[in-house]
Amino acid sequence: MTDLAQPTFPTNQDLDPVRLRQAFGIFPSGVVAVAAQVDGVLVGLAASSFTSVSLDPPLVSFSIATTSRTWPDLRRSAHLGITILAEGHGTLARQLAGPPESRFSDVEVALSADGAVTLPDGLAQFDTTIYREVEAGDHTIVLLRLHAVQHADHSLPLVFHRSAFGLRA
Ligand SMILES: Cc1cc2nc3c(=O)[nH]c(=O)nc-3n(C[C@H](O)[C@H](O)[C@H](O)COP(=O)(O)O)c2cc1C
Repeated sequence: MTDLAQPTFPTNQDLDPVRLRQAFGIFPSGVVAVAAQVDGVLVGLAASSFTSVSLDPPLVSFSIATTSRTWPDLRRSAHLGITILAEGHGTLARQLAGPPESRFSDVEVALSADGAVTLPDGLAQFDTTIYREVEAGDHTIVLLRLHAVQHADHSLPLVFHRSAFGLRA
């Protein structure tokens, strides 16, 4: 065996969740608010698993934990709003991940006729419907179809990296 053929990974690695979370956290991501009005109540959460998927048809995705208490309500909405959060939105992101009854306290929102809720303070807003849900271990990958997009701002986005906001060495 030459040096080039040395195995890259030790065998029988213990892929425990704490180590995995640390390794996954090395990859930086943005943060979105996923939100709707359901039965007259604002429902939503912060998600860093958002990603663009397809231009034709226009699709994006995010992953939701199977333990989510909010998703069963949120998924009942005809439309879901997605807002890309801005650099100064760290506290807002924590609030959107906190106790469900106060996630939208003092938060300015825009409501579409179909129930999508977006945050005008964000960098971009998407009006979406659920295209497909794919079971994926302890999460569900939610594919969303876009119906409308707006992005007027050129400020910096909120970055989530190594379990905190902002890039960290
Ligand atoms: C920065 C940040 C990113 C998050 N990203 C996700 C995510 O991608 N998927 C997810 O299921 N929860 C994510 N969460 C947690 C949710 O916002 C929420 O706290 C969690 O789903 C529990 O609330 P629920 O039971 O109402 O869903 C994130 C939280 C924070 C602060």
